[in-house]
Amino acid sequence: MTKIPMGTIMIAPDVFWVGVKDHSRRLFDGLIPLPLGTSYNAYLVKGSTKTALIDTVNPGFEGDLVDKVSQHTDPSKLDYVVMNHAEPDHASACAHMLSIAKDAKLLTSAKGKEAAMMYFGVPGDRITVVDESSAIDLGGKTLKFVDAPWLHWPETMFTYLPEDGVLFPCDFFGSHIAYGEFYADEFGDEHTLELAKLYFAEIMMPFRTPAMKAVEKVKALGPKVIAPSHGVIYRDPELIINAYTSWAGAEMKKKVLMAYVSMWGSTEKMVKTLREALVNKGIEVQMFELTSSDVGHVAKQLVDSPILVLGTPTVLGGAHPVAAYVALLTKALRAPTKYAAVLTSHGWSGGAVKQLGEILGGMKIEMLDVVDVKGPAKDAEIQKILALAETIEKKLEEF
Ligand code: FEO
Repeated sequence: MTKIPMGTIMIAPDVFWVGVKDHSRRLFDGLIPLPLGTSYNAYLVKGSTKTALIDTVNPGFEGDLVDKVSQHTDPSKLDYVVMNHAEPDHASACAHMLSIAKDAKLLTSAKGKEAAMMYFGVPGDRITVVDESSAIDLGGKTLKFVDAPWLHWPETMFTYLPEDGVLFPCDFFGSHIAYGEFYADEFGDEHTLELAKLYFAEIMMPFRTPAMKAVEKVKALGPKVIAPSHGVIYRDPELIINAYTSWAGAEMKKKVLMAYVSMWGSTEKMVKTLREALVNKGIEVQMFELTSSDVGHVAKQLVDSPILVLGTPTVLGGAHPVAAYVALLTKALRAPTKYAAVLTSHGWSGGAVKQLGEILGGMKIEMLDVVDVKGPAKDAEIQKILALAETIEKKLEEF
């Protein structure tokens, strides 16, 4: 049977994308929805004397990777496999490639070496530890490295190819998309940034301090191309560098994030009363009904929403589980939320407010108000919600 060559593209002279697009994957880490699938971008860099593979692919796609590398070089002749990050979607196939390229060395950070030995059984003598003082000469092309730990694992680093100005930052600057074009500029700035922001929220937001340090290092390098290991490649890196500067810097927008669930309509009425009051004041409100929303989009709004309003009934002595989940997510993602409010309705006993307070405890979030109503909201409680809208309007003047 005729074998159909699998697609690769050249992103710079003798630098090839040899990754895989995973169109059918719908969940990452058992947590993150992937409505557009994802890609595992691996890159082949061919110098005049040596060849390096930068990052690999998710388990199950090893054969695709070998096929793609084979279009440009004999995989058994690879000199280096670079492991920027040890998570299996980029690193598990490193061991497979090293088993084919028997003389190749794995290049990774010191912590990457520990991870490669622990997770993938790579022998220590096959690993060369690299850092910012290292330079790997491929013949006319040089691999340099950027220490960039905790993005989002401790061992992460970037690889830089100065002759072509290409930065390979692995997860950093990534986005989850299989469909569509390879380059951000073909895809459209708005759509690109929406996906990149979703990715930032779910993966990088808890690591804003190391992310900002990494952004400053990238600015100093001034790459011409940023080639992450998920999603689109940036031929105009300013777009994503500016976005990361804002997101990692927790630059807030004048808007309110409202997330709610209602069982018999009482909580929904309170939430909608507040939303209408805010909208009538010209305030942007991003509202999510939690049983029908992709929680990833709630996380995306957490990136730059200074105020979070949670609406939930009290059920079984606490908040509704999906509302508690948003509070947990806010804490786990270390969202830069500054203020919060809770709207809740209960029948015979409270408990939602106490539970949400416990979950969010320890975060630097000021609780603006709690409106806790027995049954449906009455006039006095509606007035309290309208007063909350006034408070929110004043607080938004800070941003
Ligand atoms: Fe795409 Fe952290 O792995």
